[in-house]
Amino acid sequence: MQGDTNRSRAQNSRRMFLKSTGALAAGMYLSGSDTAKAQVETLAMNGGPKAVTASHGDATTWPRYGKEEEEAVVELVRSPGYGPIEALEKDWKGFFGLPYCKAHYNGTSAITAMFFALNLPPGSEIMVPCSTFWATIMPMRFFGLVPIFIDIHPRTLNFDLEDAKRKLTKNTKAMFPVHYLGMPADMDHISDFAKEKGLIVLEDACHAHGASMHGKPMGAWGRMACFSFQASKPLPAIEGGMGNYQNREDYERAATLGHYECPQTFPADSKYAKYGLTGLGLKLRMHPMAAALARCQLKKLAKRNADGIAQTRRLNDRLIQLPGLYEQQNRPDVERVYYAANRFLFNEKEAGMSRAACIKALAAEGVSVGAAGAQFQCDAPAYHEAEWWHHLPVIAETFPGAEEVNQRGISLPYFTKDVPELIDQYIKAFEKVWAHRKELAS
Ligand SMILES: Cc1ncc(COP(=O)(O)O)c(C=O)c1O
Repeated sequence: MQGDTNRSRAQNSRRMFLKSTGALAAGMYLSGSDTAKAQVETLAMNGGPKAVTASHGDATTWPRYGKEEEEAVVELVRSPGYGPIEALEKDWKGFFGLPYCKAHYNGTSAITAMFFALNLPPGSEIMVPCSTFWATIMPMRFFGLVPIFIDIHPRTLNFDLEDAKRKLTKNTKAMFPVHYLGMPADMDHISDFAKEKGLIVLEDACHAHGASMHGKPMGAWGRMACFSFQASKPLPAIEGGMGNYQNREDYERAATLGHYECPQTFPADSKYAKYGLTGLGLKLRMHPMAAALARCQLKKLAKRNADGIAQTRRLNDRLIQLPGLYEQQNRPDVERVYYAANRFLFNEKEAGMSRAACIKALAAEGVSVGAAGAQFQCDAPAYHEAEWWHHLPVIAETFPGAEEVNQRGISLPYFTKDVPELIDQYIKAFEKVWAHRKELAS
């Protein structure tokens, strides 16, 4: 396990400074008068004043729609039609520099179409992270595909390539990492390994609209990728999804499964053109109202991501100076986005207090904080019942990375609007609690 050694340079240098000045030992992390204040202030749980007094109000409200979305919806109501779907697909391809995409009813249907497009023999196995939403995995069933559960790295919460190397079988045909909570999976190394072993690379980018690695957007790394536009996602359309396709065969096959109107638009030499009368059995068309919303949101995506990142950095750059607190790892060569939560890993030994005691003290200060774990799939009954699968998924006995997340994870809210006062007060609360950590340990 890489553990906590992979710290950012800023984190290391600040810690070294604190250590060398003796400030760490004294529990002095605050600046100027704040330091003195925090040291004399009694913890809120012991009757002292709360560090967080500003209201959380609508700080985490999502989605955030405005006039533009209202007007787009009203326009559609006044002149109903499917136009917004095609318009969204055009904008989306431009955003990704992508040859093909298809708007689907939701992320789950984009994934279903993707598995169909793979056209793999029944019994083929696809590697997925053990911690994800069920939709990354369950649609495999319809095509005789079987998941191999790969552990996650506790710092990134993402697909652990080293575990994938251990779990490769003769039936493994593809890897399907998830960019969990907006953190890009290690697509560069995953792609190299896939190339070496002749595996297909897919991406679940349902949390990562606008994230990138080495300047290349997530969703443009794999042969196919899926996005969700469900209400909580970085690009919310209340419900909706998108499939990204790098080649024509995948696009045509994926689109034919659930969009009977598509084959008639394919070139005459397409082997799917003849299915215009029937499609291939599903109807996965996105609602045009969702497409209208998604189109508006796409225009705002880059700015919203940038604002969210800037504010989260302002908070996290201070919090990660505290001994034992590690954020969901940010490789210096990736541009992550944030979605739903701001996650940390807590090292009790280094922090000098238990996770439970720390959370209790922070909560008493007014911080919206909780223990957080992995979104572990493998215990769910469906993966243990042969009737649902071509063959039963082989599930490892332990997933040490996911287990570590369960024991050490901490979650803060992801603030979806500018809340400078709250950010300052969160910093104050954390630094205050850390200044009292000896007391909390006992
Ligand atoms: C990782 C992941 N994949 C796929 C999906 C499915 O997307 P949808 O809810 O739009 O069907 C979700 C939804 O939460 C998700 O979190």
